[in-house]
Amino acid sequence: MAQMQLLPNNLADGDEVYTPDFAAKDMVEFFQPFGKMLEPCSGDGAILKYLSNADWCEIQKGKDFFQYTSKVDWIITNPPYSQFWKFLEHSMSLADNIVFLIPCYKVFNSVKTLKAIFKWGGIPHMRIMGTGNSLGFPYGYSIGAFYFKKGYSSSISYSFLGAHLTPLAPDSLKAGVLSLPESVKVENALPAVSG
Ligand SMILES: C[S@@+](CC[C@H](N)C(=O)[O-])C[C@H]1O[C@@H](n2cnc3c(N)ncnc32)[C@H](O)[C@@H]1O
Repeated sequence: MAQMQLLPNNLADGDEVYTPDFAAKDMVEFFQPFGKMLEPCSGDGAILKYLSNADWCEIQKGKDFFQYTSKVDWIITNPPYSQFWKFLEHSMSLADNIVFLIPCYKVFNSVKTLKAIFKWGGIPHMRIMGTGNSLGFPYGYSIGAFYFKKGYSSSISYSFLGAHLTPLAPDSLKAGVLSLPESVKVENALPAVSG
C-alpha cells in the first residue's frame, strides 16, 4: 500500500487501519449506494475505487470531513475509530444513508449513542465482516459494516461475509432478522436524547 504523506493531525493508532480490497468490494456490492456519494476519509481509496463519481475527503490530503457541508445521498467508509461518534453525527447531518465499517461494539457499547441513532433513524442491516484479524486489522474484535438509515424504525437484519469466516459452520452463515424490542421503538419516538 502506498504510504501517504502525513500532515499534522490528531489520529490515534487505531485510526489508520485501511480496508482490505475484498471487504471494500463486498461493502459496495452488498449495499449498492447510489446518487451523490461521499467517502469522508478515503485513506488510500480502498472503498472509493468501487464508487463511481463519489466525492471524498481525507485529512492527510488536506480535506477535512468536518469542513464538508454538502448534502449527499450515501456516505460509505471505514472511519477513524477514535472519532466514531463524531464521524457518525456529522454523517447523519449530511446523508440519509450511511455505511460504516467498524468494530461492532462501537455501535452497542453506549446507550447515549444508541438513543441518538434511534432518534435519527435506525439500522436496517448489519453485515458481519469477520474478526479484525481476518481483515488484517491489529485486533480481534468483530467487525461489521453497519447500514444506518434516517427515519428507519423497523428491525435490524443481519448477514455474514461468509467466505472470510472459515471457523463458522455453513449453517451459521445464514442471514436473518433481529427484531427491535418494543422498548427500543418507544425510545425511538422520544424527542430528547439523554445520557
Ligand atoms: C480507518 S482509516 C480508513 C481509511 C479508508 N476509509 C479505508 O476504508 O481504507 C481512517 C482514515 O480517516 C482519516 N481521517 C481522520 N480524520 C479525518 C477527518 N477529519 N477528515 C478526513 N479524514 C480523516 C485518516 O487519515 C485515515 O486515513
